[in-house]
Amino acid sequence: MRGRDHAFISASVYTSHVPAIGAALDLGRSGEPYWQKVFSGYEFSKRWLKDNPPDVIFLVFNDHATAFSLDMIPTFAIGTAADYAVADEGWGARPVPKVIGHPRLASHIAQSVIQQDFDLTIVNRMDVDHGLTVPLSLLCGQVDAWPCPVIPFAVNVVQYPVPSGRRCWLLGQAIRRAVESYDEPLNVQVWGTGGMSHQLQGPRAGLINKAFDSAFMDRLIADPATLAEMPHIDYVREAGSEGIELVMWLIARGAMNPAPPVVRHRFYHVPASNTAVGHLILENA
Ligand code: DHB
Ligand code: FE
Repeated sequence: MRGRDHAFISASVYTSHVPAIGAALDLGRSGEPYWQKVFSGYEFSKRWLKDNPPDVIFLVFNDHATAFSLDMIPTFAIGTAADYAVADEGWGARPVPKVIGHPRLASHIAQSVIQQDFDLTIVNRMDVDHGLTVPLSLLCGQVDAWPCPVIPFAVNVVQYPVPSGRRCWLLGQAIRRAVESYDEPLNVQVWGTGGMSHQLQGPRAGLINKAFDSAFMDRLIADPATLAEMPHIDYVREAGSEGIELVMWLIARGAMNPAPPVVRHRFYHVPASNTAVGHLILENA
């Protein structure tokens, strides 16, 4: 790692992104027993984020046919815009702040990562959906402005072919090298979102696999390189069709230092809508 005249990655955060969590907050229902159990897992995290404020969040998420559609499907898309509007997903835009970007760091990461042979799509206009805003709400609560600039990094996990876990893991390493070559001492957190086990359609709708989710978190912490070799079919069989969102966690994990991370927080809860909610905070040692 470079000295502190360059940017650095201090920590990574992992969390599910269930849209009903956003609705519960926005409609003032977060105190209800059903939702209280979900939000209780983020009390520590909200304090932790205040105590460990990043300069920039690099937020890996997936768009759900909101900004993109079958017209155009980038595998990896980096937001280089100055700001991003909150998407209307059919019920009006969530009443949350717009997202302020970091064009200079985002452009540097795009340059560096593309030169490291990963093809990224450059996005200068994108409305961000629950995949990005729900994780921010979970860790920031209801605020007038998000605490720092956010670089949205959208991954196609909606329409096959989707990127392999291995490619996501290697991409995370390229992102780390990109951040560490940026000549300003910015504290960057990388967030990996989506998952855990869930399937929203078909005969297996409602599928939850606690054993798989728990093992996924164990392996993500302790042995991510081997976890990265897991093929898509195992995600789909074990974690359901939308469980494939979990490959995004490997991007954030790949961006961490090679040394074992400090596990600052771990939470798992079922149910939240149709999804098992998993959450981790890992710090670089
Ligand atoms: C749900 C989960 C998702 O990941 C999503 O994108 C939409 C809905 C759910 O559990 O309801
Ligand atoms: Fe989703």
